[in-house]
Amino acid sequence: MDFDLPVVADPSVDADLALLLEHRPSNISGMFDSIADHYDRLDRLLSAGLDEHWRSHLVRDLGLTGSEAVLDLCSGTGEVALSLRRCGAAAVTAVDFAPEMLKIAESKARNAGIDGIRFICADALHIPLGSASVDVATMAFGLRNVEDPLAAIAEISRVLRPGGRLSILELSRPPSVVRRIYLGYFEHVLPWVGRLLSHHRDAYRYLPASVEAFPPPAQVAAMISAAGFEHIHVTPVSGGVAHCYSARKPKPEA
Ligand SMILES: C[S@@+](CC[C@H](N)C(=O)[O-])C[C@H]1O[C@@H](n2cnc3c(N)ncnc32)[C@H](O)[C@@H]1O
Repeated sequence: MDFDLPVVADPSVDADLALLLEHRPSNISGMFDSIADHYDRLDRLLSAGLDEHWRSHLVRDLGLTGSEAVLDLCSGTGEVALSLRRCGAAAVTAVDFAPEMLKIAESKARNAGIDGIRFICADALHIPLGSASVDVATMAFGLRNVEDPLAAIAEISRVLRPGGRLSILELSRPPSVVRRIYLGYFEHVLPWVGRLLSHHRDAYRYLPASVEAFPPPAQVAAMISAAGFEHIHVTPVSGGVAHCYSARKPKPEA
């Protein structure tokens, strides 16, 4: 199956931004490392607090029972990983390839007295976990950044046990009603405020540009299906500004 993966065709996009949009691991991890100290504060400010609502939607929807081993991929500063432990995950493995982001996650866990989270610096395309070793996998705002999203979903499938669940949260372009107001903010105000407060020239221009270049929800669902998942549900949140994708790895037929 073919997917229209991000293509940078807009000549107004300058060379540095175009390079980031190629999603080479060293460029993406370097960018997140440089903004790590500002990431949480800017996330909250620029999403008007909606980021917390989106992540809690993702975690709540899992209905954890207290026995699950969970992988949180592209864990960043650990917001989802911490919340998974608070909501009953038996153990969490938080994987991200930006060491400065992970350092913040570790210190947040330490300060909050939350144990049971293992932090691993690694690429989502080569998860250093055994096959069929986790019950649930989550990824919030990570898929859009990886070099090969389909390969990342296939790698998640490898580490999930049969019957295990996948939950992905990702930003998207909202439908027409909210679109004009939202895009005016997202493409013009956010990059300006982000640059001012993070002191990084491109990170907050990359954010709307990467959402623009990312496949629409139906295509993301098709990728999840192509990676072999079943029971795929796509739920828009906040009027389609983000989508939550849930799916299950099939059990072999008895
Ligand atoms: C937008 S942040 C999201 C962080 C976190 N999940 C959250 O909800 O705030 C994206 C994270 O994905 C990580 N990332 C992107 N591509 C990755 C890859 N190929 N392997 C591992 N981590 C990756 C980045 O380093 C960054 O920390």
